[in-house]
Amino acid sequence: MADQEARRLHPETLAVGHGYDPASGGGAAKPPLYLTSTFVYRSAQHAKDAHRIFFEGPGQGDDAAGAHIYARLGHPNLDMVERRLAALDQAEAAAGFCSGMAAISTVLLAHLRPGDVVLQSLPIYGGVDSLISLVLSEFGVKSFHFADGLDAEAMRRAAEQAAAAGPVRVIWLETPANPTGAVVEIGAAVEIAGELAARQGVRPLVVVDNTFLGPFLQNPLALGADLCMTSLTKYCGGHSDLLAGGVSGRAELIGPLRTLRTWLGNPMDAHTAWLLLRSFETLHLRTARACDNALAVARFLAGHPKVAGVTFIGLAEPGSREHALMQRQARGCGSTFSFRIKGGEAAAFRLLDALTLLRLAVSLGGSETLICHPASTTHYPIARDRLAEAGVTESTLRLSVGLEHPDDLIADLSQALDRV
Ligand SMILES: Cc1ncc(COP(=O)(O)O)c(C=O)c1O
Repeated sequence: MADQEARRLHPETLAVGHGYDPASGGGAAKPPLYLTSTFVYRSAQHAKDAHRIFFEGPGQGDDAAGAHIYARLGHPNLDMVERRLAALDQAEAAAGFCSGMAAISTVLLAHLRPGDVVLQSLPIYGGVDSLISLVLSEFGVKSFHFADGLDAEAMRRAAEQAAAAGPVRVIWLETPANPTGAVVEIGAAVEIAGELAARQGVRPLVVVDNTFLGPFLQNPLALGADLCMTSLTKYCGGHSDLLAGGVSGRAELIGPLRTLRTWLGNPMDAHTAWLLLRSFETLHLRTARACDNALAVARFLAGHPKVAGVTFIGLAEPGSREHALMQRQARGCGSTFSFRIKGGEAAAFRLLDALTLLRLAVSLGGSETLICHPASTTHYPIARDRLAEAGVTESTLRLSVGLEHPDDLIADLSQALDRV
């Protein structure tokens, strides 16, 4: 089915079959797994045309259009994932990578040059924060941040500071954010990108990390973002058994990412793509159940005397800024959030060591519930004052609620809290 035609279908339908045509797979009802590193041509001219098309784009009636070259440049299972992800993200095109960080580093390398500036929300996943502040800074890229994504004026002030230091080329948002679950107004950042364009003559790209909600709960492109990045390792993969990343957006922005991916050598492999195709089929069911479970667990924690506070958009009071924003921006709250335990790191560690069902591990979005202490794990390299500004303390624990029965999760947390 043509991509345009598919757009009339509901995302649940697209998630099941879009991107795979059984006629291309010998009639197999489900996608075959193409385990090959290279592809054979009909003739020398066919090989030349395939390369021309890869680097320069197809012409009318090009007989080599769609031909593959070498799996690092693209392969059939990757094509299927990219078509499906693009449809779910309401994008013209998508590019698949071997991890979320591979997708992120490719986007940033494609769009930043020495002297450029990144404006970012805070907090963001520790790996991305480190890439920007520890690695890209070594290549002459500066970064500025804002910590209240609900305050457009604070964002604007950070944008002004950033623009004074050089052209702002990328606005990087993560909403909800890792690890706190804090939210950022995507529309305000899009507006600020327009204001920066008028001021500096070049419009920064607004890139949204959509990992915490995924395509069934939030569509940043529909809100005006230029690129939507998702660590597919998390909810989209959904079973903690693969690493993958995806970027969706306009075709003119995705093409260069595919070319750079070829040279960086970081595409998604065939087996991972095949696993993702089946994971997408159940994503909406897993997402809905995980949201319900998370709400039950968050409510229990919020009422517990040893818990100092829960940061979860699902608990936002109607009438609050967070609640109003999420009504406009998303269709659900996700299932990853943080809470603060009374008693600092020692109490946090006692809780983690007393759990028997919840697993102590980094990562999120799997069918199993995971819990971790961000300050000593996922956000380990981040300076303590920066973490404090982001609302992450030694008392903060991050919880990714999975698909178990919520009563069992609550019982485990309850017995562990008794032993803190
Ligand atoms: C919000 C967010 N973005 C990006 C990443 C990086 O993804 P990956 O681990 O697939 O490289 C993570 C990983 O935890 C994340 O939580």
